Amino acid sequence: MAKRPKRLGMLTGGGDCPGLNAVIRAVAKTAMHRHDMEVIGFEDGYLGMVRGRWRPLHNPDVSGILTVGGTILGTSNRDDPFRFFERKRANETPKDMSDRCIALARRLGIDALVAIGGDGTLSVANGLAKKGLPVVGVPKTIDNDVMETDLTFGFDSAVQVATEAIDRLHTTAMSHHRVMIVEVMGRYAGWLALHSGIAGGGDILLLPEIPYRLEEVCRVVAERNRRGKRFSIIVISEGAKPVGGEMTVERTDRTSADPVRLGGVSQVLQRQIEEAAGIETRATILGHLQRGGSPTPFDRVLATRFGAAAADLVAAGRTAAWSRCEETGSSTCRSPARFAGSNSSHAIRR
Ligand code: F6P
Repeated sequence: MAKRPKRLGMLTGGGDCPGLNAVIRAVAKTAMHRHDMEVIGFEDGYLGMVRGRWRPLHNPDVSGILTVGGTILGTSNRDDPFRFFERKRANETPKDMSDRCIALARRLGIDALVAIGGDGTLSVANGLAKKGLPVVGVPKTIDNDVMETDLTFGFDSAVQVATEAIDRLHTTAMSHHRVMIVEVMGRYAGWLALHSGIAGGGDILLLPEIPYRLEEVCRVVAERNRRGKRFSIIVISEGAKPVGGEMTVERTDRTSADPVRLGGVSQVLQRQIEEAAGIETRATILGHLQRGGSPTPFDRVLATRFGAAAADLVAAGRTAAWSRCEETGSSTCRSPARFAGSNSSHAIRR
């Protein structure tokens, strides 16, 4: 008979988002109270595994955090143990520290690692799973772009923030007869712009998936003016680009696991619209406001379901098996979304 899992490790990686603490709480409480397991939290994502920074989590540590934004474990979107830059120097050669992570997990007697993160974090988790560390991934991101997952927690909260911002910009756009451009996050996926744009009644939505034409944007704005609508709201993803053009990159950093920082496409478009159409235009970049603060009730529920499902999977020994991932062609490890979907919610496929 397989040995009963006794100790679970957990980390949050990548950009933070509302709902991380709700997942941590659900994983820990389910592991401790339903499955009689011990829980260890690694600090600041994979950096904590590389540096040996961890702490035991007990009930008081995870109590009262359901509604709190951010992550009590800390996170990092800079550190990839498979390409680790010790000193964060641009001319440095990265080292593979994955064996060190595996060795630490073994030394701590961890039966499985619950990795809570987006595509980067889950890809690393997949790499560790291939090296023999049992892993369960929990899909997180405001961008809603984790493969094999219909809906990530954090997305609904970000849509709420962006929609409220669009609502507020609407009234000032009307008063001043201006074009207002709202830049939301989303590098390669336009879910946030699409949902907040529709919910906020945006007039033009520009997504990374569909390169835009400046002439078409100006035509729609001018057409609205002709119809007596003397303002327009444009919602644009940070990763949107013109036909034949590139994304607007603010900065690159080769020592970071997340090497490209985007931002500023709304300001570029603002100048272009003013020049081409002669219409007064303003740009607002929502930035990290979309990632901060308390999760919406929907995200609290989704995160709780994900967390409880992850702990149940660990207890059942149903951790990521590399052969299964190969079977499905998935480049990230198995996420509990697949299993959580079987007993409820329209939101999750499978
Ligand atoms: O992946 C989540 C995300 O919020 C992206 O939408 C955004 O481009 C990026 O993280 C920003 O990262 P940082 O916090 O490093 O600026």
